[in-house]
Amino acid sequence: MINGTRLTKSAIRWGMVGGGKGSQIGYVHRSAALRDGYFDLKAGAFDLDPGRGRDFGVELGLDPDRCYRDYGTMFAAESARSDGIRCVTVATPNNTHYPITRAALLAGLHVICEKPLTFTTAEALDLQAIAAERGLVVGVAYGYSGHQMIEEAARLVADGTLGRIRIVTLQFAHGFHSQAVEGDSPATRWRVDPAFAGPSYVLGDLATHPLYIAQVICPDLRIRRLLCTRQSFVASRAPLEDNATVLMEYDTGAVGTCWTSAVNAGAMHSQKVRVVGSRGSVEWWDEHPNQLRLEIQGEPARLLDRGMPYLHPQALADDRIGAGHPEGLFDAWANLHYRFALAIEAHEDGEPSRVSGLRFPGIAAGVEGVRWVEHCVRSADAGGVWVDYG
Ligand code: NAI
Repeated sequence: MINGTRLTKSAIRWGMVGGGKGSQIGYVHRSAALRDGYFDLKAGAFDLDPGRGRDFGVELGLDPDRCYRDYGTMFAAESARSDGIRCVTVATPNNTHYPITRAALLAGLHVICEKPLTFTTAEALDLQAIAAERGLVVGVAYGYSGHQMIEEAARLVADGTLGRIRIVTLQFAHGFHSQAVEGDSPATRWRVDPAFAGPSYVLGDLATHPLYIAQVICPDLRIRRLLCTRQSFVASRAPLEDNATVLMEYDTGAVGTCWTSAVNAGAMHSQKVRVVGSRGSVEWWDEHPNQLRLEIQGEPARLLDRGMPYLHPQALADDRIGAGHPEGLFDAWANLHYRFALAIEAHEDGEPSRVSGLRFPGIAAGVEGVRWVEHCVRSADAGGVWVDYG
């Protein structure tokens, strides 16, 4: 159980690019990174508007001299300080992830970057190469994967409880953008503009989350080929989709589907991952993240609860408050952040093998998300055809 003990030697001096006042995800990053004292916020280029960014940094308690007008100035100034930041989080719109992460790595910083990591696989592989060459960690903010019951699902697959995996169904289909809300919402406006969002909207913005969760639960499944169709039900969003369906075939013979949507009118998140094996199935739903449904053929369905002693030990490792009390998104993100910190310290100690068994969404997961989106877009734009995955 996590009880507030920090497992690293010191808090990592940390900065942020983006995540400024009023941003959607900035607060979640700060809450997760600061929760257990693994990171210490020292600097920021929080906002496109330098004045607003500076005011916000001061409001957060930062030294005004370390609230920078832009990320380039921040990386240069912090590199020159003996007490400069060691890690930076990139929480800006998608089009900036590649240049900012690249600049950070070249400045010798570890990075925690938002998803999708980049627009293209070539860019993501470039970041992977730079990080590997310099011994730096890149974490990717697939925050839901820090929920403890995902670990339990992975263990139930690994220990054979479900039998041979046959079917994976993924869904992240909310209804918040059923109408053209982007007229009044800047954070939605950039999401439906290819110049800022990249080659996709919901595929990259939403579907990469359950895609990564499925990779955690079923690490042995490799996609062999996929077929995607995508639609812009709010026509002004074309060419970006607000709804998409993907069929996948894995090289084990298993099959998968993914439905992702921002126009699932009436739905909240509806992010669900269901894995079906020859003996039974598990299903996780992000609106009830403390539960995992386990169904064994011929037996009554069971609802497993977070924190209970019948779970696998690995699924109890991140428990903070015992069973019964609900844990949520902030805790899931904090679970990833302590692993990011452990990975960063191991790399700085020159002992990356220390964290070889530690599960967290790193650069490989970031590359994979971008690669998947690229294949989906290629399939959809060719008329919904099967494309080999490579
Ligand atoms: P937002 O539009 O609400 O906020 C973006 C923030 O970045 C603003 O404060 C803006 O001023 C700042 N910014 C933009 N360009 C900048 C630059 N060059 N330098 C410094 N600051 C800059 O966007 P939101 O919704 O917070 O999304 C940001 C990223 O987080 C996106 O990539 C999005 O896909 C991702 N996201 C991830 C979630 C997750 O669950 N992992 C959930 C929500 C968003």
